[in-house]
Amino acid sequence: MTDTNTTRVAVLVGSLRADSLNRKLAELLRDEAPAGVTLDIIDGLGEVPFYNEDLDGESAPAAAVALRERVAAADRVLAVTPEYNGTMPAVLNNAIDWISRPYGAGAVVGKPFGVIGATPTPYGGKWAHGDTARSAGIAGAIVVEDVTVSQPAVDVDPTTDPDVRAKLLAALGTLVDFAPEASAA
Ligand SMILES: Cc1cc2nc3c(=O)[nH]c(=O)nc-3n(C[C@H](O)[C@H](O)[C@H](O)COP(=O)(O)O)c2cc1C
Repeated sequence: MTDTNTTRVAVLVGSLRADSLNRKLAELLRDEAPAGVTLDIIDGLGEVPFYNEDLDGESAPAAAVALRERVAAADRVLAVTPEYNGTMPAVLNNAIDWISRPYGAGAVVGKPFGVIGATPTPYGGKWAHGDTARSAGIAGAIVVEDVTVSQPAVDVDPTTDPDVRAKLLAALGTLVDFAPEASAA
């Protein structure tokens, strides 16, 4: 957080696929974010080794350190993810593990956290989104449940449909406008 007038949102994309729908949604939000909001799409979650307590500490892998630094530099964290076999993809789960440690002081601790995503089913990935929110909350994030959008990509292209775009931008706005101090009162 270097500029008090800017809200920085770290974005964790749960798909590694080059043509990922969810990555496109993250890019759409980045490109259409309102003034004063910047999105840092954290690429390369596939480069982060599986979490291993033996690897953590002073000599943690560079990709994990970079992930932690980018999340730590953000004011908000947004996961944009599909669903794999009824839950979140492993790369996203792994990223949450890395940013949850050191215990009680991980990069995600105390950060408002939201989750959105789309899948080509009528459910839109809601199990993955529920699991992501639960895991992030256990990791120490402040989960903003109202952000959640599980968007079916059935009979609609979420990247171009104006109603879906508006819904996703509203979700981003809910995350950005969330006031942690108000929720704690
Ligand atoms: C291994 C695997 C498991 C999947 N499991 C689910 C699932 O449980 N629920 C679902 O809605 N879609 C599931 N899908 C379909 C994905 O949601 C779909 O491929 C989606 O487009 C992936 O997101 P992406 O376009 O961002 O890569 C699965 C896809 C894969 C490759």
